[in-house]
Amino acid sequence: MKIIYPGSFDPITYGHLDIIERISKKFNKVYVAILNNKNKNSLFTIEERKKIILDSCKHLNNVEVVSFSGLLADFAKELDCNLIARGLREVSDYEKEVQMALMNKELYSDLETLFLVSNYKYSFLSSSLVKEIISFGGDIDKFVSPMAVQMMKEKYSE
Ligand code: COA
Repeated sequence: MKIIYPGSFDPITYGHLDIIERISKKFNKVYVAILNNKNKNSLFTIEERKKIILDSCKHLNNVEVVSFSGLLADFAKELDCNLIARGLREVSDYEKEVQMALMNKELYSDLETLFLVSNYKYSFLSSSLVKEIISFGGDIDKFVSPMAVQMMKEKYSE
């Protein structure tokens, strides 16, 4: 069985990786799907985000990194996959996630969303916070991979 784990991944954090590792044990195939959102001001290009994800997931042989623009429901149909994985960090994620799951089901009735409770170690983590910390010279080694740290340092020194 296949599953899609969608997100912005700008960049992927150890919180995302924890979810990917857990679903890769339960499913034959995991699509990590990067949203190409032109409205969001991203630090990394899709290619750069893909490079960091591939490096972080190199120990997982059933993970494929893909990108999409437009509706997730349409992309799921394209992949012939009717299951989405989402991590729930805190209560505040719940409302938004339930709304998205219901809307996705409205758009594609066979599409289900599987929620995984995020690892408590990363329940406070987000890509924006990591970017904010490094932009002020803080240490982010505990939150993202060495490749992501290096590439973020390069971006912020430009
Ligand atoms: N650990 C750590 N951080 C996590 C995390 C985890 N397990 N899960 C989520 N996050 C963080 C992300 O880092 C991100 O942080 P940021 O906002 O600081 O960048 C934040 O939570 C949002 O998570 P993300 O998973 O990237 O979601 P998103 O809101 O950017 O994107 C999509 C969600 C891609 C699933 C959704 O926007 C989508 O499907 N878009 C396509 C258009 C569409 O179909 N719209 C209709 C939807 S019903």
